[in-house]
Amino acid sequence: MFISPQRRKDAEKIELIIKSMALFTGTNLVELDSSESTNNYALNLLRKKQPFEGTIVRTFRQTLGRGQREKQWESEDFSNLTFSVIYYPVFLSVSMQFQLSKAIALGVADFVKSTAKIEDVKIKWPNDIYVGEKKIAGILIENTVSGNKISSAVIGIGLNVNQTNFNKEIPNPVSLKMITGKKLDLENCFQELCVSLEARYMQLKAAKQNVIDEHYHKALYGLNKEREFIIDNKNTIAEIVGVDDLGRLKLEANGIVTVYDLHHVVFKI
Ligand code: BTN
Repeated sequence: MFISPQRRKDAEKIELIIKSMALFTGTNLVELDSSESTNNYALNLLRKKQPFEGTIVRTFRQTLGRGQREKQWESEDFSNLTFSVIYYPVFLSVSMQFQLSKAIALGVADFVKSTAKIEDVKIKWPNDIYVGEKKIAGILIENTVSGNKISSAVIGIGLNVNQTNFNKEIPNPVSLKMITGKKLDLENCFQELCVSLEARYMQLKAAKQNVIDEHYHKALYGLNKEREFIIDNKNTIAEIVGVDDLGRLKLEANGIVTVYDLHHVVFKI
């Protein structure tokens, strides 16, 4: 069958457009002029009804953003992405919940790599996204459990896009603008990030856990290197040797490997 050059071009264009669209992530968008915390808003939504899978609550003015370990997440108004995705990973048992954290961290890292055109993007355990020694994005996942399954997950993502001045108390922040030297279009970034997140979520759903595990370890910040930690309130130097299936950090000191959960270990810097 003869296909005219024009028709082929049009078909290629359509393919490109389809590839750059997420199928369900962000399709239902709850856009708020301002919100204390998009995670809180999404958790409240879930208490009232079951929004479509992939629903996103987004604001460009978050006033009391929450981070991990009860910390705050600060973000300059209209400069960055702050949003929460609702997924229903009912295929995951509670003991496998860290797989979701890995998949999402990889999705954010994939996006940062391709947008900033850099390779040195790492996941600092458990799921901070780093460029070199600087943090560009944070993730806060709040799961709801039913029986031994995850019935819903609110995945909060804060990504520094165009902010260049940060509160002095925030350790090592960086943004896409600081890396690329260019101001980025927030809407484009959002659409592309949705594509990356959905691709990794679908990989998880297709039970490609070995791929996710391999990519997570490849991207793990400080793997096979010594780092300083605070373990049970004591300063300790140990080598990162991996993360186990339950999401605990494996550290080696004096030839002995010990696993730690979030309550017992924290990076010193
Ligand atoms: C961290 O690095 O400690 C996690 C930060 C997560 C911040 C995001 S911003 C959108 C969503 N809403 C919140 O209140 N927190 C998350």
